[in-house]
Amino acid sequence: MDITRDRFPSDFLWGVATSAYQIEGAVTEDGRGPTIWDEFSHTPGRTRDGDTGDVAADHYHRLHPDVALMGDIGVNAYRFSIAWSRLLPDGVGRVEPRGVAFYRELCEALHAAGITPVATLYHWDLPAVLQGRGGWGERDSVEWFTEYAVAAKAHLGDLVALWTTINEPWCAAFLGHGSGVHAPGLSDPACAYLAAHHMVLAHHSAVGAMRQVSPRRDDRFGAVLNLIPARPVTTSAADTRAADLVDVIHNRQFLEGVLRGTYPAEIREMHQRFGIAGRIDLAELSSRRAPSDLLGVNYYNINHIAYRPEAPAPGEYPGADGAVIVPPPGRLTEMGWGVEPEGLGWMLDRVTREHPGLPLYVLENGAAFPDDRMVDGVVDDANRIEYLRLHLAVLADSIAAGADVRGYFVWSLLDNFEWALGYSKRFGIVAVDQATGHRALKRSGFWYRDLMRGQGPSSQPASK
Ligand code: FCB
Repeated sequence: MDITRDRFPSDFLWGVATSAYQIEGAVTEDGRGPTIWDEFSHTPGRTRDGDTGDVAADHYHRLHPDVALMGDIGVNAYRFSIAWSRLLPDGVGRVEPRGVAFYRELCEALHAAGITPVATLYHWDLPAVLQGRGGWGERDSVEWFTEYAVAAKAHLGDLVALWTTINEPWCAAFLGHGSGVHAPGLSDPACAYLAAHHMVLAHHSAVGAMRQVSPRRDDRFGAVLNLIPARPVTTSAADTRAADLVDVIHNRQFLEGVLRGTYPAEIREMHQRFGIAGRIDLAELSSRRAPSDLLGVNYYNINHIAYRPEAPAPGEYPGADGAVIVPPPGRLTEMGWGVEPEGLGWMLDRVTREHPGLPLYVLENGAAFPDDRMVDGVVDDANRIEYLRLHLAVLADSIAAGADVRGYFVWSLLDNFEWALGYSKRFGIVAVDQATGHRALKRSGFWYRDLMRGQGPSSQPASK
């Protein structure tokens, strides 16, 4: 099925997304403080081939050409993240004017190009100094994050109206402190659940505080969740129970924590089981709840879950004993993730049903494929085009069925540092030559451009 622009609202945000550590580089420049990802990536054995974000896509030095590139593609929105330690090198306290200046320059360039900035405060790069004080496992993290959020609003609030707080708290909490495959690399279930709670509370606290700082009428605040449907591999009661528990840990813990200021009973049981119930004040969560103006939904794939009694709980789903994530049927991306666009529609319909009236933005969707094949000097990433096309078709159907989705952002603008997998996985619709930093639109970039121009599904690199 072809997909055309006229299947989306006329004021739809068509965007691309990135995050600070994955693209900026310049990690020691202009007063930036070190982060947990600097430390993690420099620890032998933590990332594929020892890759680090030291240079990444060198975006810190290429801000203007990169905004020009977005203009060429024709997006009207750009989601980026602010590096906490560029603004507050010590995590709290002193504000670094050169860090502020960089993001002001970025936002001004975006406005000049007619591109709406969508800022994310936290895309996983905690200032290292705060990890030294216990990081997200400590209750103080709520206050640290709130101070940073207030500083960001105070210094950039005249240029940014769409604010998202924490990107994918499940990943930050459970990959960072459960399985340990992400920074800070801990494997401690109690700490993972505490970190998750502190991130949820920090979201509410930050939104409440930011609303007091130079309010503008068009200010909008929300969190970004990567919602992954959890499907049992059979209809057996055991598989279904296992999938339901993964759904609770991955999705409902954060949907309900962020949108309702409560947790499902199963999460309370985990707090008990891991001995932290006394450190989680549910009354505080409920009283500090800040209503969301929007929810960012990141979607990539579906979790297929089986129950195997002998299997230990996966590190990233502590307490889900016997739950096993099995490879999906059908086509896979280079991440080993399925190509399952129907999960996006299913999730948007679910959120619409369970949390009616909440504006949604798909703030990440995209795919990594081995896309070395060049045709006439252009990376011919037919697989990525197909992936995007299938997901946009499902999105259009969801909107037609009543989901209030106001924007779609391709992950990612640029090939970049894919966390523990380093530069081995490329998500960009723009190819980045790792050695030279040279950028070139892939065929998917031309395809996205043509779609936004209302020129239908062409993907020819005709007018480069
Ligand atoms: C998401 C992250 C993003 C990127 C994509 C592939 O979970 O938010 O930074 O790594 O996955």
